Amino acid sequence: MRVAGAASAIVDKQPHTRKANKSAPGRPKRESVPKREARRVVLNRAPGRPKRESVPKRGARRVVLNRAPGRPKRESVPKREARRVVLNRAPGRPKRESVPKREARREVQHPMSAAPESSSDPDSAKPPSAATPVPPSGTWSGRFSEPMSERMQRFNASIDFDRRLAHADIAGSRAHAQMLAERGIITHGDAQAIERGLAQIEGEIARGEFTWQRAFEDVHFNIERRLTALVGDAGKRLHTARSRNDQVATDLRLWLREAIDALVVQLVALRRALHDLAAGHADSIMPGFTHLQVAQPVTFGHHLMAYDAMLARDIERFADCRKRVNRLPLGSAALAGTSYPIDRERVARTLGFDSVTANSLDAVSDRDFAIEFEAAAALVMVHLSRFAEELVLWSNPRFGFVTLADRFCTGSSIMPQKKNPDVPELVRGKSARVIGHLTALLVLMKAQPLAYNKDNQEDKEPLFDTVDTLADVLAIVTDLVATGLTANVERMRAAAHEGHATATDLADYLVRKGVAFRDAHEVVARAVREAEARQCDLAALPLDALQRFSPLIDADVFGVLTLDGSVASRDHIGGTAPSRVRAAIDAARHEIGSKT
Ligand code: ARG
Repeated sequence: MRVAGAASAIVDKQPHTRKANKSAPGRPKRESVPKREARRVVLNRAPGRPKRESVPKRGARRVVLNRAPGRPKRESVPKREARRVVLNRAPGRPKRESVPKREARREVQHPMSAAPESSSDPDSAKPPSAATPVPPSGTWSGRFSEPMSERMQRFNASIDFDRRLAHADIAGSRAHAQMLAERGIITHGDAQAIERGLAQIEGEIARGEFTWQRAFEDVHFNIERRLTALVGDAGKRLHTARSRNDQVATDLRLWLREAIDALVVQLVALRRALHDLAAGHADSIMPGFTHLQVAQPVTFGHHLMAYDAMLARDIERFADCRKRVNRLPLGSAALAGTSYPIDRERVARTLGFDSVTANSLDAVSDRDFAIEFEAAAALVMVHLSRFAEELVLWSNPRFGFVTLADRFCTGSSIMPQKKNPDVPELVRGKSARVIGHLTALLVLMKAQPLAYNKDNQEDKEPLFDTVDTLADVLAIVTDLVATGLTANVERMRAAAHEGHATATDLADYLVRKGVAFRDAHEVVARAVREAEARQCDLAALPLDALQRFSPLIDADVFGVLTLDGSVASRDHIGGTAPSRVRAAIDAARHEIGSKT
C-alpha cells in the first residue's frame, strides 16, 4: 500500500488523473482542432507522394471523404456533413470543444521540435508555424521534415499513462548520471547540475506543478526536456550511454519491484485477517463440499485456512518473480550495449538491483518479468474469485452461512427486499480483467523479433491496471474479512446435519471392525438410502435400523456419527480437527511474523 500509494500519487496530482482517463478508457480527451487545421491533418500528404496540385474546393472535400478506389463516386454531400466525416468523431465520444488556433497547431507539430531547445519552460513552448519544416533539434526529430498529425501524436504518445514511471525514471537518471561522472564520461559539474534539476523536477511532480506534454511523447522525453530547460547543456548530456529502450525497461522493473513489495504487504494483511477469523472458528462445524454437494464435515476455521494456504503460495510466487524483476537492464542502451566505459554494477548497487542483466538484446526487449508478475497476480485473483464465489453462495439465505455487513452490499432500485453481495461479485468479476491482462502481455510478447519493438509500449496499461486492481481488491477483501463477515455457526452446523456428512465416518468405523472398505461403502450407501426414505440424516437413524445393515454396528457408532467426533478424528497435519486448525493458524502466524 505504502509504495503503490506513492506511485499513484504522482499520477493523481497530474491534470489527467487515472479516473479521468477511465472515462474514455486509456485515452485522453482530444483537443479540438479548428476547421482549417483539421482539413490539413486529414490531407496529410504521405511521404514520397508527389505534392498535390492545387485542388478546387469541391475536389479537396472529396479527398477528405476518402473514397476507396473502385467505389462509386459519392453524391455531393452538403458541407456540414463532409466536415463531420473529416473530424471523424468516434461514436459515443463527446463532441470536441473548440480551441484557439495556436493550441491546435501545437498538436500537429513533430514532438521533439515543439519546444525550442533554449526554452526555459516547456509550458511556454512556441512551435514554429505549421507550414515550417521541422528544424533538426538534436533528437530523432532532426531527420524528419513532416509534422505529425494530432491523431498520430496521440497514437504514438505514452505520456498519459507512463508518467506513473516518473519516480522510477528520476531514480534511474540519478544513478546513471552519478556513474557517468565517476567514470569521467561527464563532468562532476554536469552531474551536480543534473542532480539539482532532477530534484527540482521531482518536487514539481510531487506538488502537481509539472506540466506533462503529449508533444514530448513519453515520461523519459518529458523529464529530459524539462531538465534541459532547467540546467541547460548538462541536461542534454544525461542521455549519454543510454537509450530510452534500456531506460524504460529499468523504469518498469523499478516500478514493479515497489508494486510487488506493496502487494505483498497487503497479502500479509489479508492473511492475518484470515488467521484471526479462523482462530475464532476452529471448532465451528460446517459441511465441506465436493461438487458443491455436502461431502464431509469440516470446521469453518479449516475452510478459511485453505485460502490462507493459497495466499501463502501467492506471496511465494511474488517473491520468486521479484528475483527476476530485480535485475538491471541499464547499460544495454538501444540494443547492443554502449561504447562508453560504463559501470553497470555500480548503477545496480545504487538502485538496489541484485544483479545486471546478461544480454543487452534480451534486456531491452523481453518483458517476461512482467508476464510472470501478471501470472502470479492472476492466480491471486483466481483464488480470491473462489472465496468471493463462496461468499455469494453463503450469503444467500438458502445457505445463510454468513452475513455480510451492509457496507459491502447494495440494494436494488426496484426490489426493496434485496441485499446484493456486490463486493464479492465485483471481486469475482475483476478476476476476469486481471486474467485478461496476463493474456494481453503474453500475446504482446509472442513472436516479437529481437530486440526492442514499440509494441512493448503497450505493456504498461495492463500492468498498471493489474496492480491497481489488486491493491483495491486486497484492501476491500481484507476489510471484509476483518470486520464485515459474520459466520452464522448454527446455520452451518444445521447444514452439516442435513447431507449425511458423516457417511464416510460410518464406513471407516466398519473398516476398523474388519469390513473391507468397498463392502463398508456399500453397507453405508444402503443405510443412506434408508435415511433418505425416512427423511432424516444418517446420524439420526436409530441403532436397530443401522444394525439391519451390519451386525457389527454397536452403540459406540454414535461417537463417530456425530459431527464433532467426525472432525476431531481427522487429527493429522493438514486435517480439519480443531487442534490441527489451531496449530495451522499458529504456524502461519509464526511464518509471517517476521513479515511487515
Ligand atoms: N515509450 C516507450 C515505451 O514505452 C519508450 C521506449 C521508446 N523507445 C523507442 N525506441 N521508441 O516502450
